Amino acid sequence: MENNNVKQGASKQAIQYHYDKSNLFFKLWLDPTMTYSCGMWENATTLLDAQLQKLDFHILQARGAEATSVLDIGCGWGSLMHRLKDEYGVRNVTGLTLSKAQAEWINSKPHSDCQVLLESWTQHQPTRPYDSIISIGAFEHFAKRHLSKEQRINIYRRFFLNCHRWLQKGGYLSLQTIGCGNMLRQDFSQFFEREIFPESDLPRLGEIAEAAECLFEIIQVRNDRLDYAITAREWRKNLKKHAAEALEITDKATVAKYEQYLGMVILGFEVFESMNLYRITFRRINKPREEKRVG
Ligand SMILES: C[S@@+](CC[C@H](N)C(=O)[O-])C[C@H]1O[C@@H](n2cnc3c(N)ncnc32)[C@H](O)[C@@H]1O
Repeated sequence: MENNNVKQGASKQAIQYHYDKSNLFFKLWLDPTMTYSCGMWENATTLLDAQLQKLDFHILQARGAEATSVLDIGCGWGSLMHRLKDEYGVRNVTGLTLSKAQAEWINSKPHSDCQVLLESWTQHQPTRPYDSIISIGAFEHFAKRHLSKEQRINIYRRFFLNCHRWLQKGGYLSLQTIGCGNMLRQDFSQFFEREIFPESDLPRLGEIAEAAECLFEIIQVRNDRLDYAITAREWRKNLKKHAAEALEITDKATVAKYEQYLGMVILGFEVFESMNLYRITFRRINKPREEKRVG
């Protein structure tokens, strides 16, 4: 694979365009842990419960409770890292983000012993293997739009190759990502691409499976599509509730843009079924069979 391919995800600038808007703006409409991904609503009644349940689900799937070291790829404002420290007493927690504002936010909290690195998974070079890896809501940024299917799969494969290299023998990886559902490539929203998440794209389930072949065994796949509609509805409700405060932080056009974006997310997951929400558990294959692909 060409080395260039791994650079074909969202750039630092594209990530910061979205996530470095304002920590206070996101604080207005996310739950108190500042988790910015689909919650798990099975037995939850509040957004906070749904987010904590989701974090615990991934920790369980990745065998994080028994781990000494866990890597969080795309750690956002650090909710999973804090959960691993506070509830599970995991000694070494490392998070990767491309957002400066998120890294500063995490470093300003009492848990400065969580190591947050302002670097891409494509650059990460751990000194020791991790016991578990978790990645929630970041995979959508790993490939730019307009790449061919083959190029996308190459990037995703590089991701699984790295995770394979970084994990202990028998280690688990828990991945959550939005994926294409009932959607053709030309259906992808220009508004999302231009205004909300530049340089990003959605994988298909088959592309993820192909990219992980002979590196990871897929243990479980869940599609919790409707969980995203409930989550986005909660976010939009909070944003509307705090509209006046939002207007003190940012301008009217930005607030309107975010309301539109969250409305489109609700429609996409609930009505058009154009997007799915995958939660996939992988177990590292210790002796990968296909040496040529792995090397
Ligand atoms: C939607 S947020 C999810 C954050 C967090 N996992 C959560 O659930 O709250 C996506 C995260 O992925 C990170 N990200 C995007 N591309 C990345 C890359 N190439 N390497 C590392 N992190 C990346 C962003 O900086 C951001 O923290």
